[in-house]
Amino acid sequence: MSNSKVFVPTMGSLHAGHLSLIEIAKNYSSNIVVSIFVNPLQFENPEDLATYPRDIDGDIVQARSAGATEIWTPTVEEIYPGTVEQISAGAIGKLYEGAGRAGHFDGVLTVVDRLFRHVQPTWAIFGEKDFQQLFIIKKWVKASGLPIEIIGAPLIRDLDGLALSSRNVRLTPDDRKTARVISRALRQATAERSIDSARDRLHDVLASEPGFKLDYAEIINEDNFEPASSARKGRAIVAGWVNGVRLLDNMSMSSPISVSGIREIQVKTLA
Ligand code: PAJ
Repeated sequence: MSNSKVFVPTMGSLHAGHLSLIEIAKNYSSNIVVSIFVNPLQFENPEDLATYPRDIDGDIVQARSAGATEIWTPTVEEIYPGTVEQISAGAIGKLYEGAGRAGHFDGVLTVVDRLFRHVQPTWAIFGEKDFQQLFIIKKWVKASGLPIEIIGAPLIRDLDGLALSSRNVRLTPDDRKTARVISRALRQATAERSIDSARDRLHDVLASEPGFKLDYAEIINEDNFEPASSARKGRAIVAGWVNGVRLLDNMSMSSPISVSGIREIQVKTLA
């Protein structure tokens, strides 16, 4: 393989979701760069930033054993040495994940731009877990003509259906049971045939769990992030809180995923 680099940016506190990105990276290059940087610009809430889980030593061990060949752990001063001119994520940056979190996606694009300039990768891998982030980064890379291919990686779930997230460590065993409503709602909604019944099902199942506080639930079109008018290219997106912990998840309308996170194989019987 050539010297070209494949890049996996992270904020650390690594789990199997992050490690799956490193696994996918191996298909592109033997030169795998992982960055670990908790980006202050993308946190609107100082307390969330201060309490964001960190485990740099454990992360380095995990990233190395997963196959990272270079681990970069820059300081805030290294990434933001002077005044910071932020990149705007535009109108889409103010919807859904951006609606209650002013400047979140501007902060994401600003750090990704700086990380890209330093690493200069040929490919960069981002998880579908943060589907809106992936959409915005792809759009921005295309618009700015950067010579980097953005690769989306499937969302990894725990055995109980919960999407893996660094924030899950804050959930008690009871909270986890409550949080299962999210993947249950997504599975049931994406199994519906019509877009209207899918939307109804999504909201009904989420509302059936009193411990879940909804932020938003929608089925968007994957191509433009607008509310979908048909199931084709539709993706159900959900965010909300369980006991003060913010959880984010999504599922495609066209490729149902089983609770264990393994893509279900649609077996067709030949006539
Ligand atoms: P972080 O939340 O650490 O996530 C790093 C990468 O791992 C992202 O691309 C995210 O989508 C992916 N990821 C997280 N959980 C996943 C899961 N359960 N399955 C698959 N992929 C998963 O996203 C960020 O950091 C930051 O915004 C960053 C892009 C690094 C910029 O600061």
